[in-house]
Amino acid sequence: MRLLVCGGAGFIGSTFVRQRLLEHGDEVTVLDKLTYAGREENFHDLREQPGFRFVRGAIEDPDAVARAIEVAAPEAIVNFAAETHVDRSIAEPDAFVSTHALGTYVLLEAARTNELRYVQVSTDEVYGSIEQGTFTEDSPLAPSSPYSATKAGADLLVQSYFHTYGLQAVICRGSNNYGPYQYPEKLIPLMVLNAVNGDRLPVYGDGMQVRNWIHSTDFASAIGHVLKHGTPGEVYNAGGPDEVANMTVVKRIVELTGAQESQIEHVTDRPGHDRRYSLSSQKVRALGWAPRVRFDEGLERTVSWYRDNGWWWEPIRSGEYREYYERQYGRTLG
Ligand code: NAD
Ligand code: TYD
Repeated sequence: MRLLVCGGAGFIGSTFVRQRLLEHGDEVTVLDKLTYAGREENFHDLREQPGFRFVRGAIEDPDAVARAIEVAAPEAIVNFAAETHVDRSIAEPDAFVSTHALGTYVLLEAARTNELRYVQVSTDEVYGSIEQGTFTEDSPLAPSSPYSATKAGADLLVQSYFHTYGLQAVICRGSNNYGPYQYPEKLIPLMVLNAVNGDRLPVYGDGMQVRNWIHSTDFASAIGHVLKHGTPGEVYNAGGPDEVANMTVVKRIVELTGAQESQIEHVTDRPGHDRRYSLSSQKVRALGWAPRVRFDEGLERTVSWYRDNGWWWEPIRSGEYREYYERQYGRTLG
């Protein structure tokens, strides 16, 4: 297929682009604004691949989207482009509203006028927190943060384009991802890099919040399945095989990195912190998808990747991220 992948310079987007180019022989054009989280380093190994193209631009900019469509001549748009960190959405929600609301709207208009298939990459966070049981695609949307609320708004707009204009659109909602190339503001890479650099490990509140971890290669393959086999107008959840409490994740990272448990420190909880996420994936499993990577093995491999790829994260830890870290945690990185 010829694909336009928006947000393909990010963590999961670049993982998806790698799969499509190397395993499926697709032609892929990436449209990405290159925010702090979007980095050309994330597709360093793909630049010379036949069929790979990159256009720098924002999804909320109709001219940039038109240019990317001209370059890609796509059969489908897959939209990963988003602001993705809950803590940043609490501190500064502006970009979340413009990228998720306006950006999704501009892409939907482009898909409609060019009669393209459309996949919206979304998150389990649109359902809110669940103490017991598991969310299905029919669960009500009850987002808690500016991040998840604006993602939920984008999902509703996508569904309206199916109902109103018959756009061939599907939505794929993933649970918490981890793996190589994840920006270190997120729990797992933050803890791994702090552990190996001798920094404190800041656990929010009691650390007993539960996340349903999925390896990024598994989420990327679920999105590929939904792109190919999903029924227009439908939502598909893709949850990982394991649910783990944050403190268990952090203690395992301490073991894997040879750090000290005394580096762990409880810090002030995130406002409105969702206690637990849990996602049923029966519907996408019925399309023939299943996650392959169990958390224990995936975490070990992820820790090794960060250990072996200082070239990727050292510039991050000495740049914008340091200032962000000081603002967010009130402490400098060592
Ligand atoms: P990321 O923050 O690593 O990457 C986001 C990418 O989008 C970056 O390359 C960034 O430059 C680009 N981008 C942001 N705003 C843009 C704009 N206005 N125009 C063009 N490009 C823009 O994010 P990620 O973790 O790879 O997440 C990708 C998608 O998957 C998001 O839609 C997110 O909501 C969803 N998701 C993420 C997770 C997770 O755990 N990370 C879980 C479920 C769903
Ligand atoms: P995060 O990676 O931000 O993903 P999300 O909020 O989208 O689930 O956080 C995962 C969990 O880890 C969440 O419960 C918040 C917690 N957390 C910490 O305890 N300390 C931290 O420094 C960070 C970034 C997250």
